[in-house]
Amino acid sequence: MVVKAEIHCHIEGAASPALVEAQAKKYGVDVSAIIRDGSYVWSDFTSFLRCYDVASMLFRTEEDYALLAETYLSELAAQGTIYSEFFISTDHAVNAGLTPAAYISGLAEGMRRAREGTGIESRMIATGLRHEGPEGVERAARYIAANPHPLVTGFGMAGDERMHEPRDFAKAFDIARDAGLAITVHAGELVGAESVREALDHLVPARIGHGVRAIEDPALVERLAAEGIVLEVCPGSNIALSVYPSYAEHPLPRLRAAGVKVTLSSDDPPFFHTSLAQEYETARTHFGMDDAALLEMTRNSVEAAFVDDATRAALL
Ligand code: ADE
Ligand code: ZN
Repeated sequence: MVVKAEIHCHIEGAASPALVEAQAKKYGVDVSAIIRDGSYVWSDFTSFLRCYDVASMLFRTEEDYALLAETYLSELAAQGTIYSEFFISTDHAVNAGLTPAAYISGLAEGMRRAREGTGIESRMIATGLRHEGPEGVERAARYIAANPHPLVTGFGMAGDERMHEPRDFAKAFDIARDAGLAITVHAGELVGAESVREALDHLVPARIGHGVRAIEDPALVERLAAEGIVLEVCPGSNIALSVYPSYAEHPLPRLRAAGVKVTLSSDDPPFFHTSLAQEYETARTHFGMDDAALLEMTRNSVEAAFVDDATRAALL
């Protein structure tokens, strides 16, 4: 089994329908509108986000989040994964009635349990939601800057890329960077190359979440390669959300051939009927990658991970 690592997964998006149904039963909530026959029900990016938001409301206590993180990380470890970096969203926690502190403390407990049980190493990346606008993202940045946690090592932005411009969020990213957090941002998923270029210019990330649509501009692809910007590529997510009609059109092989540092991640695995193991298998079958190429993906993720040098050295 090829050793794996991922650096792009949303913790709320890692909750399986079975776990959400169990939570729904515990809280006496009807989730038949978002889960049918054991699968999440959504049809496009907007309805995916809505489904995701409803599912996240079933995690209401510190222990709920400990269980979610422990379950996700233990499953990853069983797939041969040594490292995971996942996105957290204090906005989702607050909407479910939890304080950001309790949310992070619960997740950290789940990470501790998974590490104790399996050895898997992990870190969290705080995020703001782009569709909440600049004030919301600044609030998320200010919270994490004022309340540092040793396992929260990065800051990013997820949500609907079709809303607002990267420059609108420069202040939020400055706050996070000044607090010593490493930076990544979702771009080039729902919007083309211009969105990636603007994110690079105004938010100065070390990595881009997705970034695959940079392929639409050869000069930008050259820039990504020259500047060593790492792309957190999630092929199964891109196919599920119809960013590309099939794996044959997916640009990962072309980006890699152009010298761009690419990695493999699962994004929101049960929503997209995938897993990290499935992503590695997809790369093998659809992108023609052999064990050595897949190990290069793992190495790229560990090299780009938001960890201290000693942790990185232990993983490599
Ligand atoms: N939040 C969860 N999954 C996401 C995705 N694929 N793009 C943007 N925001 C997200
Ligand atoms: Zn994502």
